[in-house]
Amino acid sequence: MPFNPKKFIEETIPKIKEQIGKEKAIAGISGGVDSTVASVLVGKAIGKNLVCVFVDTGLMRENETEKVEKTLKRAGINIKVENASDKFFKELKGITNPEEKRKIIGKEFIEVFQKIAKEEKVSFLVQGTIGPDWIESGGGGRDTIKSHHNVAGLPLDMKLKLCEPLRDLYKHEVRMVARELGLKEELSERQPFPGPALAVRVVGEVTPEKVEIVRKASVIVEEEIEKASEKKEIEKPWQYFAAMFPIKTVGVRGDERAYQYTIVIRAVRSLDGMTANFSHFPPKVLERISTRITNEIKEVGRVFYDITNKPPATIEME
Ligand code: XMP
Repeated sequence: MPFNPKKFIEETIPKIKEQIGKEKAIAGISGGVDSTVASVLVGKAIGKNLVCVFVDTGLMRENETEKVEKTLKRAGINIKVENASDKFFKELKGITNPEEKRKIIGKEFIEVFQKIAKEEKVSFLVQGTIGPDWIESGGGGRDTIKSHHNVAGLPLDMKLKLCEPLRDLYKHEVRMVARELGLKEELSERQPFPGPALAVRVVGEVTPEKVEIVRKASVIVEEEIEKASEKKEIEKPWQYFAAMFPIKTVGVRGDERAYQYTIVIRAVRSLDGMTANFSHFPPKVLERISTRITNEIKEVGRVFYDITNKPPATIEME
């Protein structure tokens, strides 16, 4: 039977009411479709007993905090913004292993949630976990592809109880629920963005300098791809972003030798993120992106386009 979002909503709200009862819950909101839909459903079930928190990790995209705050306000959700960027960068210093990075991020998120939970006397944590998150984190006896911060990144001694109403859904089904809930297109169709944010797009050690470079490159990649898809030069990818390889190569700027970082453009077609094919872009689109990146970001000397499907790659770099 095809997935029916109306039926899903009707069945899920009473289940949440039963699970949380008269207790309070805190929702970790990233501004993405999953955490927003989960929060709207829980908000409908328990009303004022839900506290929504957006953690500014310092790893977000350009103006993300302000954008998320505004978009969610329009959807009727008020969020508390908690700035924890110094702590995230401190804990990530010197860490290069992707799984270690993800686990540290998971732990840091929970520390922020637990601090607020204590202040607000909250006992449940609402997360927008969906099927691929726990499947790829090794759920159901599968191999761990990557520990999604909201699943395998959770500390074992976590005191908060979990409420995850979207656990059995795929991304396209979450989008159907979002549309059924009447959320605007800016939310329901927003391209996926991982919880660990730009940390999984900076390969290896995460530093404020590298995050800033990938943040600037992301703005260019997003702008150019959106423009090209509006002009019908390309089909709009399912997900598109910039990532950074911490490798420096030699180049020339003006008449001088340069030694600069490498940016990778990633753009994929997918239905649910479980498999993906790289988007086939005409060279002129790629050239525009590459030229802007090297002109506008002086620390970048080379730009590559990732022509790998998933499998064998994953969508994100780590
Ligand atoms: P991968 O890289 O595993 O990504 O092929 C599949 C989809 O999941 C997103 N992703 C995440 N989302 N927490 C999330 O909320 C995470 O830790 C995480 N890691 C990857 C990724 O952006 C893609 O859409």
